[in-house]
Amino acid sequence: MPHLELMSLEEKIGQLCLVNGAEGEIPSWLAEDVAAGRVGGVLNEVDPAVAERLQRLALSRPAGIPLLMGRDVIHGFHTIFPIPLGQACSWDETLVEACAAHAAEEAAACGLNWTFAPMLDLGRDPRWGRVAESLGEDPLLVSRLGAAMVRGFQGGDLRDPRRLAACAKHFAGYGASEGGRDYNSCPIPEIDLRQLHFPPFQAALMAGVATVMASFCDVAGVPASANAFLLDQVLRREWGFRGFVVSDWESVDQLKLHGVAADDRDAALQAASAGLDMEMAGSTFRRHLALLVQEGHLSMERLDAMVSAVLGVKRDLGLLEGLRPLPATPSPASGAQLAHRAACQCAVLLRNEDQCLPLSRKRVRSLALLGPMAHDVAEQLGTWVFDGDTRLGITPLEALRQWEDADFQILHHPGLCSTRDLDLGQLDEAVALAAQADVAVVVLGEEAILSGEAHCRADIRLPGAQEELLRRVSQTGTPTILVLMAGRPLALEGVHELAQATLCMFHPGSQAGTALRDLLFGIEEPGGRLPISFPRQSGQIPIHYSQKSTGRPADTSSFTPMANIPQGAKQHSLGNTSHYLDAGFTPLYPFGHGLGYSFIQLKDLRLDHQTLRPGQRLGVSVTLRNTGARAGTELVQVYVRDLVASVSRPVKELKAYRRVHLEAGAVCDVHFDLGEEDLRFVGRDLRWMSEAGHFRIWVGTNSADGLEACFSLE
Ligand code: BGC
Repeated sequence: MPHLELMSLEEKIGQLCLVNGAEGEIPSWLAEDVAAGRVGGVLNEVDPAVAERLQRLALSRPAGIPLLMGRDVIHGFHTIFPIPLGQACSWDETLVEACAAHAAEEAAACGLNWTFAPMLDLGRDPRWGRVAESLGEDPLLVSRLGAAMVRGFQGGDLRDPRRLAACAKHFAGYGASEGGRDYNSCPIPEIDLRQLHFPPFQAALMAGVATVMASFCDVAGVPASANAFLLDQVLRREWGFRGFVVSDWESVDQLKLHGVAADDRDAALQAASAGLDMEMAGSTFRRHLALLVQEGHLSMERLDAMVSAVLGVKRDLGLLEGLRPLPATPSPASGAQLAHRAACQCAVLLRNEDQCLPLSRKRVRSLALLGPMAHDVAEQLGTWVFDGDTRLGITPLEALRQWEDADFQILHHPGLCSTRDLDLGQLDEAVALAAQADVAVVVLGEEAILSGEAHCRADIRLPGAQEELLRRVSQTGTPTILVLMAGRPLALEGVHELAQATLCMFHPGSQAGTALRDLLFGIEEPGGRLPISFPRQSGQIPIHYSQKSTGRPADTSSFTPMANIPQGAKQHSLGNTSHYLDAGFTPLYPFGHGLGYSFIQLKDLRLDHQTLRPGQRLGVSVTLRNTGARAGTELVQVYVRDLVASVSRPVKELKAYRRVHLEAGAVCDVHFDLGEEDLRFVGRDLRWMSEAGHFRIWVGTNSADGLEACFSLE
């Protein structure tokens, strides 16, 4: 690294310090530290003029090195796209990549060069607020979409001033936070870490991700920020990661609170020795690394490796050659177009009784638009939108009003002041509007603040009096459509039946309004499929499609709902299987589920071999027929079960998927091919391997059903 030998110890340590910026004026301590080379990066500074002043200060000294300028650009910058969980509903790498690329361009125009995204933690517990920021429950889907986000943020060449260095976070296992409570312990056996939690990070590395963030949590008792197994053995030695690892916010200091470090000095030593390179927000590196090196506790070799990793990323960004030019801000129109496309493609039609949707413009002359999320531009954006520009947003009310004329009337009332409101005082007015209208569209869910970091919920039903609002609206007899805008799956058992159709948009972003309007009236088709299971009740969590069979698997014949248990039933008389008496064992909506407006049927599953031999591919084909009257898109999904293996394997695992567009009446064949590598798993010796034996394969449109066949691996 050219600069290394010219740098003093203080300057080297400076490169490892990421400090929080100041909105507006640069405080004197920051100006002094930057000018003295005691800072390697600044986060949360988004004023391009201030960013430029900071960069000039960094360059004002001989051999000065520009700063990394970081920010959480998670699902948009000024233009906001659906939350990551929403984007994952698209199962579309091209779309996800395009959203990240647009966000990078808007952010880079403000002087940023680094984003703390994508979050690659598995979202398997909807109580966990950060499920909003996840790409869902499945390692394959998270890997593909996470890699697409990395490509979008970073582009082909980080020197391009429109691109940002990405950060794969939070390494590793954070999604398994106990009880869905943020920051909690993650008791994950190594076999599951390797099988489930690592693959998305490996995929991000393959996509060239520049940086990795250590997570807040402890994995099997060792906090990630001081976890040499994660940061050194796996990330560097096994996977050959060459970028740098940044801590999470003050997570080095927090080693004391975890109870594994005696003081800040100990925390800094443990983190640096374990493989952490840069400290975010804390000051343990700044205060202690020099002495730790001088006294021989931390080798100069390790310190140089840390600095080289940071300088390597700066080199890749072109920063060692000077300041990057500020790119132009992309046009808001292009952002709006993409945000609209994304919100449509990410919307999941969960239910559609009697093809209630799409609505006909000819038949609907008055529409009651109700609910606290129908007209609140800030709340529809979701979590992590520090820079989201509400002026670029449009609410459902505003979008529908654009269409109002003598033949089409919008009757609007929120019914409740917020999604948490328990006051029933306004309900009558809202319900009266529903009674007058041809159709009622009730937009419910969660305000942005109810999900995201540290915003976990134990009970994930619709908060406040929203269920009551929906119940009263449905009692009017007016056809009712439930639209959900939320940061997580909600437990809707007993509620969703009140509406004829349910459309889940998660938090859809800036263009929620135009997207909902166009979806309701069939100008667009809801393109989303669930990347996460919807439980019936909160108490079923965790519930994900790829569970293990167990030795006593439940099926519909083996469980008696609580209400049907005969009085005085003897202990084993109902059989003993893995289920809840009061909630069964199935989710309300399975992973992969979502309806469209056309009728696309799958038939004739064909395998080109019954036996997959080494070096061969197994061709899998299915025929799709669109029997509906309009063109549509289906997501064809391939699942496999390894029937007998040396470790128990999930009842189903996603192996492949494809979005297929079909014109009305069209028929087409869709082909997949699987190889031996698709059938590998982490074995008892913690290595990836496959085993000869029998497999079941399903091709379908969700994880619960599908056409079925068998094959074997030789
Ligand atoms: C979060 C990270 C985020 C960082 C910087 C932390 O609290 O866990 O995901 O990137 O703050 O804002």
